[in-house]
Amino acid sequence: MILVAPSLLAADYGCLRTQVKMVEDAGADWLHFDIMDGHFVRNLSYGAEFVRQLRSGSKLFFDVHLMVEEPLNFIEMFKNSGADQITVHYESTADVKKCLNLIHGYGMKAGISLKPKTSTDVLIPYLDIIDNILVMTVEPGFGGQKFQSELLPKITRCKNMVGKRNITIEVDGGITEKTSAECAANGANVFVAGSAIFNAENPAEMIKLIKKSGEMQWQQL
Ligand code: DX5
Ligand code: ZN
Repeated sequence: MILVAPSLLAADYGCLRTQVKMVEDAGADWLHFDIMDGHFVRNLSYGAEFVRQLRSGSKLFFDVHLMVEEPLNFIEMFKNSGADQITVHYESTADVKKCLNLIHGYGMKAGISLKPKTSTDVLIPYLDIIDNILVMTVEPGFGGQKFQSELLPKITRCKNMVGKRNITIEVDGGITEKTSAECAANGANVFVAGSAIFNAENPAEMIKLIKKSGEMQWQQL
C-alpha cells in the first residue's frame, strides 16, 4: 500500500487548517510533522502545541518526525498532542530501545530514522520492534533540497532487511512525482513531500501524482 505524507514544513502557516483540509480532501494518508530543535539540526520549526492545535481539525494519521537531541524528553508531549506515530533519529539518542518502548507504551507506532550517512545495519537489533523506517534522502534540517539518488540502494537494503515484517519504509527529502517512482521501485511505500506539494500550482493534483507514480512502480516489485 502506497501512502503519501505531506510535510507541513512547506505549508502556508497563515492558513494551516485550510492547508490540512486541502491535503486531506486530496487523498493524503499521513500528515508529516518535522520537529527541529536547532541542535540536532541547524534549524527550528514547531513543537507539540502546533501539532495539538491541528489535531481537532483532522482525521489524518499524525506522523511526527523528531529531529531533536534527547527525543526521550519529548515523547509524552507529542503523545498528548495527538501523535499517532513518532519516529526518532538513530543518531539522536544513546538509548533507541528506550525511546521505542516509551512510544509503544503510550500506544503509538514507533519508527527509526537514518541520516544519509548512517548504515542500515544499525536497524538490525530493532527490526522486531519498529513499525516504520524513515530513510532520509537529504540531510535533515531543511525542506527544498535535492533528492540524493545515490541513496536508492539503501532503500533496497531496508526492504530486504524488513522481509515479511509489517514495517513501513518511508522516504523523506526531495520527493517529487519522479523520485517517488524511483523510491517505490526500490521498496519504499510512504512518501513524505513538502515543497513538491505545497509549492505546486495544483497541490491536490501533485498528491495524486506522487501516489500514482509510486503505485505503478510498487505493483511491479
Ligand atoms: C527535512 C524534513 C522533510 C522536509 C522535506 O529535514 O525531514 O520532511 O520537510 O521537504 P521537501 O519535500 O521539500 O524536501
Ligand atoms: Zn521529515
